[in-house]
Amino acid sequence: MSDFQYYINPAPKVPGEGADVSVLNNEVAKKVGDFHRSFKEYSVTPLTELKALAADFGLGRVWVKDESYRFGLNAFKVLGGAYAIGQYLAQKLGCDISELSREKLASPEIKAKIGQITFASTTDGNHGRGVAWTAQQLGQKAVIYMPKGSAQIRVDNILATGAECYVTDMNYDDTVRMTDMKAKENGWVIVQDTAWEGYTEIPTWIMQGYMTLAVEALEQIKALGENRPTHLFLQAGVGSFAGAALGFMAAALGKDMPITTIVEPDKAACIYKSATAKDGKAHPVTGDMDTIMAGLACGEPSIISWGMLRDYAAAYISMSDFYAANGMRVLAAPLKGDAPIVSGESGAATMGALQHIMRNPNADELKKALKLDANSKVLIISTEGDTAPEIYRDIVWFGKYADGCK
Ligand SMILES: Cc1ncc(COP(=O)(O)O)c(C=O)c1O
Repeated sequence: MSDFQYYINPAPKVPGEGADVSVLNNEVAKKVGDFHRSFKEYSVTPLTELKALAADFGLGRVWVKDESYRFGLNAFKVLGGAYAIGQYLAQKLGCDISELSREKLASPEIKAKIGQITFASTTDGNHGRGVAWTAQQLGQKAVIYMPKGSAQIRVDNILATGAECYVTDMNYDDTVRMTDMKAKENGWVIVQDTAWEGYTEIPTWIMQGYMTLAVEALEQIKALGENRPTHLFLQAGVGSFAGAALGFMAAALGKDMPITTIVEPDKAACIYKSATAKDGKAHPVTGDMDTIMAGLACGEPSIISWGMLRDYAAAYISMSDFYAANGMRVLAAPLKGDAPIVSGESGAATMGALQHIMRNPNADELKKALKLDANSKVLIISTEGDTAPEIYRDIVWFGKYADGCK
């Protein structure tokens, strides 16, 4: 069996005819952006154009949005956690988030009103770091749980914010359930980046938070003289990130939304499994999910984003670690004239998929179905930098995970 499998959506829907994306509209995006801009760490992350790579792949343009520059935290995830915590506090204060800023929320007057809150979460690293960092910024507490096998550096980065952080002996999804239980026992506020029955408000805010990067990317693309990307590749763990980016594009661009492909590790391909089940329902995968794509090692689709991914994505890819490792190397050692990008295992998964589609005849059917050709303007989001530097170097410098097909 191939270690690169894909499923082409036989009938993707036109925005308006499928899942509701109104929670991801421009008006909300503006509010989200205003809140993010109230953090002094905020800056627009770079959009790097890879011209030589586009020519080599036979594509029109290739852009990579580099989220390793996000808030100094090396990953995009803080966008969601920060906005969700802001919204939670706005609700507690009985005001609109547009009346709040980072400075106001950390002020003694507001703190006296809201008191001491403990935010709890489960993370593969990046989301928990964002939650812990935001709690620290606002003078609040955080308790973060991580699945077994989590890299020590990711634990250390969370501990450095002053949060408590524990590695469990469970996989991601079971750790989420345990965190939920502990939060209920202790009166903590759970800020989880996935939704389940009865828990949708905070994950919706988290998805809304992610919109900032999509808004920035569209504006950057417009500044380069194009209206929109024609193609979008999105990596998925629970699918909140992919749902947010795709849902925003669907809401903003309607039938002109980019042709979107969802990319997952084969050990945790819950969106791929759900799409191929063809019954419209979300299906979990279980087990240890031991993949180098730690941020994507989640087995249960978020119930909010699944409908959007089911209705509007054009294709779903399930692939082995080799492709992510290769994507890291493609970005780290670019063709002459292109700038290098430091992209981690989850960050580079989509570049690995694109490389395979454009250069391997086995993927010709997919390339044709996606209409990837010289007219294509492809947007990729490198969602993290070298969040585990030793693993990064093992792969990029010392060639680990190189035994795949070219
Ligand atoms: C770097 C990175 N990329 C992508 C994702 C996937 O996001 P989601 O779980 O919302 O699908 C994650 C999740 O933690 C991540 O850390």
